[in-house]
Amino acid sequence: MTRTVLRGRVLTFLSEPQGLDDAASYRYIEDGAVTIDAGKIIAVGDYVADGDAEVIDHRPHLILPGFIDTHLHYVQSQIVASYAGSLLEWLNTYTFVEEQKFSQQGHAGAVAAAFYDELIRNGTTTAVAYCSSHPRSVDAYFGEAEKRNMLMIGGKVMMDRNAPEALCDTAQSGYDDSKMLIERWHGRARGLYAISPRFAITSTPAQLEASRALVAEHPGCYVQTHLSENADEITKSMELYPDSPDYTGIYEDYGLLGPRTLLGHSIHLNHRETAVLAETGSVAVFCPTSNLFLGSGLFDRERLTKHGVRIGVATDIGGGTSYGMLETMAEGYKVLQLRGQRLTPFNSFYMMTLGNARALSLEGTIGAISPGNAADLVVLNAAATPAMALRMATVTTLAEELFLLQTLGDDRAIAEVYVAGARAKSRLGGLAGQGA
Ligand code: GUN
Ligand code: ZN
Repeated sequence: MTRTVLRGRVLTFLSEPQGLDDAASYRYIEDGAVTIDAGKIIAVGDYVADGDAEVIDHRPHLILPGFIDTHLHYVQSQIVASYAGSLLEWLNTYTFVEEQKFSQQGHAGAVAAAFYDELIRNGTTTAVAYCSSHPRSVDAYFGEAEKRNMLMIGGKVMMDRNAPEALCDTAQSGYDDSKMLIERWHGRARGLYAISPRFAITSTPAQLEASRALVAEHPGCYVQTHLSENADEITKSMELYPDSPDYTGIYEDYGLLGPRTLLGHSIHLNHRETAVLAETGSVAVFCPTSNLFLGSGLFDRERLTKHGVRIGVATDIGGGTSYGMLETMAEGYKVLQLRGQRLTPFNSFYMMTLGNARALSLEGTIGAISPGNAADLVVLNAAATPAMALRMATVTTLAEELFLLQTLGDDRAIAEVYVAGARAKSRLGGLAGQGA
């Protein structure tokens, strides 16, 4: 007996919801079964007794694809919730100090293990992370992912100016180290590499040129950087790159935009920049808890969508304040409320799952419960806390239940997580498995 059947209420998206009534955008099965074999989903449908399979009964909980986080910094796990007035103050006061610790033997491994525990605790089965500028931080990151059989994307931060000496590489060493790490980790187990020039302020033109070379030599890798998060950051970037038409133009000038490019924040963009992101298929990554915490600004989802820009959503730990995609979407909803924009609960759950899989061009691998995809799944309990149970007693629709999960839910609402078909949350130990 190798097959496992998860029984529960199954929800998975088929396309981006076009409003609250767009029932064609998702599949919902009241008494559903997800059949798993060798780490993959082999069937999904109504539950029927199957004597040859091990059945795990998650009723009355919801079974969804595991959450995907498209931008965070694992090396900032120990500076989450650090008091600062704005991005550049926060970077200089905490971040650039903290990331220097990753030169120490043993530090990266310990932080990586705790970081992955936290992802699993919060229902996240795939994430895209920045490591520090030290190659050993990348080894720890992918090594831990391999142990856990997780599909993880990440890379060594490249930064060769405007930061402490101990954190800086050079254009040449950043190139050499990135290349060595790509060869070591890209495509090994479930790992995928992201070429990661931190942002325009901390990369010289020579380093962006080296990044261009890496992208050309490794077209299967992702590119991740930061774009237009904060007003002072934009001013400084334009002082450093006076020949570029705008902030997006800097990355454009160095050939760094494209369908595998993830641009963290992308808040303050002019019309030209929006058009360039759309034309190149680059992804604007919405980081609501971070944008509120650092006072960076309000992401304009409607405008970007209208112009055809692809969008991802992310926690941005440690500028962000929660590892949970539920809390992230709760804050995302509030950001959009302040912009006068509506986000339906279906759209929120689409964004955390299939939407982010599409942002990573990984549809068909993760982000949906469909045969052939990896069995990376999350089981959600909408009555996990007394306050949630109280509200759940009055809930009558799936949309209301999802909205309650997003608005009141946290890691306690994550009843179980499966990574490549194996139970992950209940195996964390301690109190983590309670409620499963
Ligand atoms: N811009 C450049 N580096 C960072 C970072 O580490 N966090 C955030 N939020 N923005 C950045
Ligand atoms: Zn970031």
